[in-house]
Amino acid sequence: PDRYAVAGNPVAHSQSPNIHAQFAAQTGQHLVYERLLCPLDAFLPTVQAFAAAGAKGCNVTVPFKFEAFASARRRSPRAELAGAVNTLRFDEQGWWGDNTDGLGLVRDIQANAGQPLAGLRVLLLGAGGASAGVLGSLIAARPAELTLANRSADKALALVVSHARWAQEHGVRLQASTLQDLPEDRFDVLVNGTSASLAGAGVPVRGQVLREGGLGVDMMYGPQAQGFLDWVAAQGARPRDGLGMLVEQAAEAFQLWRGMRPDTAPVLAGLRAQLA
Ligand code: ATR
Repeated sequence: PDRYAVAGNPVAHSQSPNIHAQFAAQTGQHLVYERLLCPLDAFLPTVQAFAAAGAKGCNVTVPFKFEAFASARRRSPRAELAGAVNTLRFDEQGWWGDNTDGLGLVRDIQANAGQPLAGLRVLLLGAGGASAGVLGSLIAARPAELTLANRSADKALALVVSHARWAQEHGVRLQASTLQDLPEDRFDVLVNGTSASLAGAGVPVRGQVLREGGLGVDMMYGPQAQGFLDWVAAQGARPRDGLGMLVEQAAEAFQLWRGMRPDTAPVLAGLRAQLA
């Protein structure tokens, strides 16, 4: 069977092997999907050895998405925009790098949560790697306005500048903000791309930013997302964790490697039941 893996550090708790095994069973594809723990200073040699052993590709997770970007000979436009790669395909002519995180997020919001984005006001919190990975795809969903708010304003501004042309091409008003200076008016959709919850710092914005009935998405799942999700519910808005994004970005990678789309709904439902 063809071999794939998730390359990262840590990878022990990654759900990707489980998800891809289900995709493979569902579509009758013969493949194995492993965990590839890379030493922090040895991402490239570890993945090179995996490829040399005949593997076909890998997903890349924290903290190697930037190194994966650099390792790719050619990249998709969305990976170029993100400056980060989460999916590598080991082509004969050199590695192909893609980033499926953003499309996975947008697909989960629109198709699974039933929340449109076109013409609406979207707030993205954070300007680190997680936000950089999804900003281009959020813009491509054509909200009327996309505000990127971050604790340090310079990082938000840098992402807005690197995505300015893309936003213009899609007719999206893209602007940077600090967390304190967010406009009073309420956003329809809020996506949390900060790691504030990991630091135990809670939700870094006031309550008034998300409108009642809106959607608040955390890119994380499990106990780390709970504080944010509780806060969203307390605003009278709908909370959504990052599990759907995880499954959808995996489906995009699977399609890139195998040329076919798995059915994500039963896999997401199974994961939810298993992690509950
Ligand atoms: P990741 O790859 O997960 O995005 P990162 O690149 O370190 O990790 O980015 C973390 C993000 O969470 C940043 O936007 C960070 O804000 P700064 O750029 O100002 O550092 C944000 N963040 C982390 N802890 C935070 C906190 N306690 N309050 C607000 N924002 C926080």
